[in-house]
Amino acid sequence: MKEKLEALKAEAVSAVNSVTDEKGIEELRVKYLGKKGEITSLLKQMGSLSPEERPVMGQLVNKAKQEVEELITVKKAEISKKETEQKLLNETIDITMPGKSGKPGKLHPLNTVLNDMIDIFQSMGFDVVDGPEVETDHYNFECLNVPADHPARDMQDTFYLGENLLLRTQTSAAQIRTMETRKPPIRVICPGRVFRADEVDATHSPVFHQIEGLVVDKGITMCDLKGVLEQFAHEIYGKDTNVKFRPSFFPFTEPSVEVDVTCSECGGKGCRVCKGSGWIEILGAGMVHPKVLKSCGIDPDEYSGFAFGIGLDRLTTTRYKISDIRLLFENDKRFLEQF
Ligand code: DAH
Repeated sequence: MKEKLEALKAEAVSAVNSVTDEKGIEELRVKYLGKKGEITSLLKQMGSLSPEERPVMGQLVNKAKQEVEELITVKKAEISKKETEQKLLNETIDITMPGKSGKPGKLHPLNTVLNDMIDIFQSMGFDVVDGPEVETDHYNFECLNVPADHPARDMQDTFYLGENLLLRTQTSAAQIRTMETRKPPIRVICPGRVFRADEVDATHSPVFHQIEGLVVDKGITMCDLKGVLEQFAHEIYGKDTNVKFRPSFFPFTEPSVEVDVTCSECGGKGCRVCKGSGWIEILGAGMVHPKVLKSCGIDPDEYSGFAFGIGLDRLTTTRYKISDIRLLFENDKRFLEQF
């Protein structure tokens, strides 16, 4: 029995020494020292020994048990330490690794162009004002000299929200609000979204953007209108751009003009963008109609003014050579990242 114990102990020691993981060491503990373990079961065989041998053997078995137990405890600690070290090693953060950078936000091309326009007009002394997108018939049409039965209403297909409430079809509504709240001299621009029940195609959208301008003071003439708008066109398109004033009609201005600039795509030769004319229309303008001044409590005998409405979307598509206005509204990141 003594030899058996020695052999078993030697076997256990060498097994414990060669094990490398926590699961393995636990299996060895059960195998040798568990309730039915091989060393433990030697104690159960004591019955076959003589009374003198029993205490001697008992002591030897217990001692062996204790030694193997200690060895297992030490080994367990060693393995657990190693495993922790390995884990820490695997989890170390490499601080020299380049970070994952998020894509930075950018200005939408419409905003870039709008900011440029605001800079230009501010440098000429204009204030920026805001107006509501949901307007009343009164501000969007009535005060702008477009009464209910006026044929000019057909020029703008309106989204009505109620009998008198609508989505503004033009930023011109802001002219009236400004003249009601400010006294001349007035020099403002009002950028914003406008809405018309238009079919969507490459050049039309039911939502688009305008910048309204208004100047009212004593002695304002068509010369001031021409000077300001020419200056604006030259700053946006460059000094070599020709600017053409064409007679036109708007109910709220008299006389009225439309302003064309040299087509930036073909330089005036004629192309697909300008439909062969060499010109691109960028805005409508005119001298504020005396009726409009009067409806806002400004005496047309004392004051005069000019107004203009610039299409921001057209300006943006021509500047960046964007072939389809819908691209400006689809928020496709692949498109927007290019600007
Ligand atoms: N509101 C006009 C439009 O949407 C543009 C316009 C023309 C505005 C002449 C003006 C103006 O202020 O004087 O077509």
